[in-house]
Amino acid sequence: MRALLAVVGGLGVLGTGLWLSASPAGAVAPSAEAGADLAARWCAACHVVAPSGAGTDAAPAFTTIANRRSPPEIRAFLAQPHARPMRGFSLTTREIDDVTAYIESLQQKAER
Ligand code: HEC
Repeated sequence: MRALLAVVGGLGVLGTGLWLSASPAGAVAPSAEAGADLAARWCAACHVVAPSGAGTDAAPAFTTIANRRSPPEIRAFLAQPHARPMRGFSLTTREIDDVTAYIESLQQKAER
């Protein structure tokens, strides 16, 4: 009986392990690198997206945004399409997380 319980318990642990190892695929940590890529493609038309200053000054520079907005504020802002010319321009949660991580990384550089 004890052996049977051990086997059942073991299967339970194994099952949990498989479930845990399978689930992170849907919950990858935000990637500032992917965010930088996205910013260069989609945001640089209006924003200065890199500390080096490539872009335009039609909108606040990402470094400026990083210094005055918290990540939750940036996320909330990006959940809505913004800037009239880009109506219908909307990001997935994943893209918002990535680009927010990227903007956040600019703040750390500016402070050091
Ligand atoms: C068509 C031009 C345009 C594009 C493209 C654009 N933005 Fe903007 N963005 C603006 C303008 C103009 C403002 C300031 C006015 C406003 O709030 O709408 C702004 C404001 C913001 C703000 C808030 C700044 C603040 O502190 O108030 C964030 C965050 C932001 N943009 C992020 C992004 C990101 C991320 C992208 C790319 C995925 C992007 N923007 C693409 C024009 C643009």
